[in-house]
Amino acid sequence: MPTFNERENVAELARRIDIVLSNVSYEIIYVDDDSRDGTLQVLREMAESDARIRLVHRIGRRGLSSAVVEGIQSSAAPCFAVIDADLQHDETLLSAMFEAISADKADLVVGSRYVSGGGVGDWSKSRQLVSRFATWMSGLVLKAHLGDPMSGYFAMNRSTFDEAARRLSQQGYKILLDVVASLPTAPRVLELPYVFSARVHGESKLDSAVTWEYLLLLADKLVGHIVPVRFLMFIAVGGAGVFVHMAVLAFLFRGIGQAFIEAQTIAMIAAMTFNYFVNNFLTYRDRRQKGWKIVYGLISFYAVCSFGAIANVGIANFAFGYEYSWWLAGLAGILVGAVWNYAASSVVTWGAK
Ligand code: GDD
Ligand code: MN
Repeated sequence: MPTFNERENVAELARRIDIVLSNVSYEIIYVDDDSRDGTLQVLREMAESDARIRLVHRIGRRGLSSAVVEGIQSSAAPCFAVIDADLQHDETLLSAMFEAISADKADLVVGSRYVSGGGVGDWSKSRQLVSRFATWMSGLVLKAHLGDPMSGYFAMNRSTFDEAARRLSQQGYKILLDVVASLPTAPRVLELPYVFSARVHGESKLDSAVTWEYLLLLADKLVGHIVPVRFLMFIAVGGAGVFVHMAVLAFLFRGIGQAFIEAQTIAMIAAMTFNYFVNNFLTYRDRRQKGWKIVYGLISFYAVCSFGAIANVGIANFAFGYEYSWWLAGLAGILVGAVWNYAASSVVTWGAK
């Protein structure tokens, strides 16, 4: 059970699960990303009085998917289920889920909002539409048909999970999709309907980043084995930076008649600055620099890119000297410069703490 600021919900759900699973020997593992609302204290008290309740406390990390994976890995149970801690997933399905897995009727049981009998409660039309569209897109990467691949509520046998474990992206929120897209063969799936209920306590942690992270997960599943998605984003941002460069250059040189060398220098700084901020916002959103760190980040990014420019010109000149055509030499310079900028900035500018 992943938790982040769920003080009011965790004990109630544990109490309900104990009723639902009264005939099953089970443990509950909470993976909490350092909640500051008192959830941790509540979980510790629960764990102290009941040995079947455990807590994995992560500091300095966030993420629903990675939390879920860590919880699964911290247990040796042959069958496990993932459920939200906020009472929005119908816990009464857990016994039927366990039943199906332990009797080997399925490898995966999904609590589904989109099979007959299921539903999303009082979602707005637009949210339903977005959810449907995202579901359709998931067909691009899935190995098996799932009515509700976005579901965060499912049960699995461990051997199935193990087949996917080393290929998981662990990006964002969609852990079920990640697991099923990472399996070498289609699992036997059973879908059980449930109605997604409204939240009573606390608030949802899904924000606008969730769409972005979802697209990254799909991209990673589609091409991630060939080239890292982060690198592709870095290149795309660099491409946009070329337009910024040319616009500033045109304005300064053609527009207001600045000397070319000055105009070009300012355009270059503008493009680097643009690239830094967009990369900081999107490409490295998980290591985003804030406050004063932005100054350090920007300066180090300038430094990295300056070496990149030197490498770019050097390689291009070298290739040109070997009688490669001018454009091939130019592209070789750009490629080497870009790879350098990516590799060096990932360590120097956005290096792990
Ligand atoms: N450890 C940890 N770290 N837990 C988190 C984090 C995090 O960064 N973000 C959210 N959680 C926990 C919440 O505390 C809650 O228990 C659960 O994950 C779901 O988070 P919500 O923010 O309530 O998500 P939701 O209700 O909008 O959507 C959920 O249900 C959908 C339908 O099954 C998610 O599970 C979606 O992925 C899912 O599509
Ligand atoms: Mn929720």
